[in-house]
Amino acid sequence: MKSSLKRGIYEFHFEVTGNCNLNCVYCYNSDCKDPKYREKELSIEEIKSLIKETKKYGTKLYTVSGGEPFMREDFFEIIKQMAGCSVSILTNGKVLTKDLIKELKKYPQIKEFKLSWDGFDSHNKLRIGSNWKDVEKTIVELKKNGYKVVINTIVLDVNQKDIYKLYHKIKKLEVDRWRVDMPFIFGRYIKNIKKYAPPDPKYFTEIFKKIIQEENKNGNKMILEIFNLYKSQFKPSNTVVFDTNTHPCEYKRELLSMKPNGDIIFCPSLNFAMANYRIDGSLSGAFKKERKHSFYNIKTSDLKDCVNCRYLKICGGGCRANAIYEFNDYCGKDSTACATFPEWEKTILPILKKSHKEYFKKLINYNGKNPIKSY
Ligand SMILES: C[S@@+](CC[C@H](N)C(=O)[O-])C[C@H]1O[C@@H](n2cnc3c(N)ncnc32)[C@H](O)[C@@H]1O
Ligand code: SF4
Ligand code: SF4
Repeated sequence: MKSSLKRGIYEFHFEVTGNCNLNCVYCYNSDCKDPKYREKELSIEEIKSLIKETKKYGTKLYTVSGGEPFMREDFFEIIKQMAGCSVSILTNGKVLTKDLIKELKKYPQIKEFKLSWDGFDSHNKLRIGSNWKDVEKTIVELKKNGYKVVINTIVLDVNQKDIYKLYHKIKKLEVDRWRVDMPFIFGRYIKNIKKYAPPDPKYFTEIFKKIIQEENKNGNKMILEIFNLYKSQFKPSNTVVFDTNTHPCEYKRELLSMKPNGDIIFCPSLNFAMANYRIDGSLSGAFKKERKHSFYNIKTSDLKDCVNCRYLKICGGGCRANAIYEFNDYCGKDSTACATFPEWEKTILPILKKSHKEYFKKLINYNGKNPIKSY
């Protein structure tokens, strides 16, 4: 039945705990690991009412994340509440033993695992406490048990040289989808950015040029998504075109993202609360408050450095978390995007399939300004 409530929730991205068994150098969520923060995590009773309410808003897909979701003692009790919907679990895979996977099979709502894998020795350096060989074994086990497996990879300068080899490894394991991203600058990454710099945009786009050329030649069942630069399953209908009259993160408007303490955020990378499930008493109460928040009401035209940019329709101003880090202003530009889009135009755009290429060429504002990288 269609919900009569105004705000829909097509997906609920729920960080069930801030607790974690790893200490990744770039983790945006490190503040949530603090024991003081953890005292404020939602109780199982609160979570039960919350999930009931999301179902009234039409939620069919739950992404269970953290911290590390398996660190939550009542993990299975939470999953039980999501019966009848699809559940995707975003995990570092550290505790996913054969026995646990067997136990998980009792919950048919779990359809997919998203595992984080960043490379080889470089993975072990970045994802402190994890070993890439264990991640590989876990993928094999999950596939054997019929699960969909998505790999999330974050590229920094330390692991950029491993990405091509990682691509082949992941492809051989018959992973269903590979999502590659650059780090956004938040949490523990703010402390570590000098030691672990973002990738070199030129190198980054060159590696993916090589990978996309191989994909064009040989084909691939695996879905490939690279930052906001490339989607192997490109269709105009699944591609966001940014419009100056809409919110720069408009496409996330029907996503509900919640921190372990009930804070409602615009997306997982944007760590400031617009409302809080516990304080506002219910989701409908929180949504009333959310609507009044200044961030909820900005438009892409408010991003002054971006409005005349050559790439605005494709980039949309990049990641708001990066703008806050660099300019302390959620209407600032995103220097990672500014450094990457010119390389994308030079390196990746020319090798795209014809229809894909023509589509993006129409979106470039050839009279617009070139972005200026500022760090
Ligand atoms: C916060 S983790 C939570 C789930 C689980 N602990 C894991 O690592 O997969 C969710 C995803 O965010 C990614 N991530 C963490 N910090 C990030 C950052 N600064 N920028 C981009 N992605 C980040 C992780 O690599 C992981 O794929
Ligand atoms: S990225 Fe995931 S595994 Fe790594 S520290 Fe953060 S929450 Fe833990
Ligand atoms: S490339 Fe830079 S200036 Fe251009 S829209 Fe993106 S963030 Fe804004």
